[in-house]
Amino acid sequence: YREHVDEQAVAGDLTDVVLEPFSPQFKANPHPTYAALRDHDPVRRVTLPSGLPAWLVTRYEDVKAVLADPRLSKDVRRFPDPGRYLVAADLRETISRHMLNADPPDHTRLRKLVSKAFTPRRVEALRPRVQQITEELLDRMAPLGRVDLIDAFAFPLPVTVICELLGVPVEDRDEFRVWSNVIIEGVGAGDRFESAVRAMDKYLRELVEAKRRSPGDDMLSDLIAAREEGDRLSEGELTSMAFLLLVAGHETTVNLIGNGVYLLLTHPDQLALLRSDPGLLPSAVEEFLRYEGPAETSTLRFATEPIEIGGVTIPAGEVVLVALASANRDGRRFADADRLDITRGDSQHLAFGHGIHYCLGASLARLEGQVAIGELLARFPDLALAVPPEELAWRPGTLIRGLRELPVTYSPR
Ligand code: HEM
Repeated sequence: YREHVDEQAVAGDLTDVVLEPFSPQFKANPHPTYAALRDHDPVRRVTLPSGLPAWLVTRYEDVKAVLADPRLSKDVRRFPDPGRYLVAADLRETISRHMLNADPPDHTRLRKLVSKAFTPRRVEALRPRVQQITEELLDRMAPLGRVDLIDAFAFPLPVTVICELLGVPVEDRDEFRVWSNVIIEGVGAGDRFESAVRAMDKYLRELVEAKRRSPGDDMLSDLIAAREEGDRLSEGELTSMAFLLLVAGHETTVNLIGNGVYLLLTHPDQLALLRSDPGLLPSAVEEFLRYEGPAETSTLRFATEPIEIGGVTIPAGEVVLVALASANRDGRRFADADRLDITRGDSQHLAFGHGIHYCLGASLARLEGQVAIGELLARFPDLALAVPPEELAWRPGTLIRGLRELPVTYSPR
């Protein structure tokens, strides 16, 4: 396949080779296509699954430059016809007015309202609770001998943590898992998307009302208090913040845990190395983030003026999408980039983005990933894939790199 891609690329015809980025075939293994793009067409015009045109940026240095460039806006309301990129107009106020859709000064104000809760020190204080949730989930798995690791472990851990932080009832998780999955896989497209957004929006507005009546010791109650105190936060910004944190807490760390375990089970030498030296856990997690990170691309950015990227001029008003998964495999930046090496110890990957929108939850995700994978390996010494790796299916969409299911076996205890 790789040879096929390169042959075609050399022949100057990438059109058919880039089997439509983000198609099911592409999602099965996007890396050869990204390699060909980096070499031959590093800033390429593509059509997104939503039908919209965009510029796909694939080289490390270009990706980093894009993410730091203030001429690229995240505020779609600054552009004509925002409905092409966002949910229906009546939902925009409650779902879309969050920090990841904002430019300074709004971005700065919104991020500051919650950033204290996510500092490395505050996150480290959550370690005992993360550990406890992890152990409870492993206890439940232990007698079974075979589970879908996504369903039994990788999903419930981060979701329980973010629900507790925000003050969202964790019993409701199966409901908003469905909405969240639909929303993240098909941003901007279809009736299913629209009704999932509507359901989530209704749920969040009711939750905010309930918390107004009886506040708790949680982030959502604090935000409601901030809203009441002055003009720091509009009502729409409040529900949008809850929406962003809930979806970000749902869709990402599950795939750090899932992809990390998948990589270990398909690279026995790396698994043996980690089992023999658990001190390698932090550097292993960085390598999982680099090699198969949960965010395949960034979210969309809009050119406020003509901008040159890697020798290509992007006209004003057009959309730019960066492929983080590609930047992190760029041989111009990482030696032996296609080799999984848990001793690499290089955390300069772009899996959490870069610049002002750098992931707010990075410390929390790292903590969860390290605790989850460390405890899982310690508990089940003979953990193995239950199906051949080729049978595993990857989730659709541009944004997420993650497995639908990860069936594993182990000796019951
Ligand atoms: C932003 C990745 C976990 C909250 C981002 C961005 C990336 C990312 C790439 C930047 C997107 C862009 O610039 O277009 C990840 C990965 C995670 C993870 C790979 C897990 C391994 C989390 C968690 C939370 C979170 C657990 C929340 C509690 C956020 C927020 C932003 C963000 C709020 C927006 C920051 C801003 O606009 O200033 N994340 N994330 N993330 N992430 Fe994460």
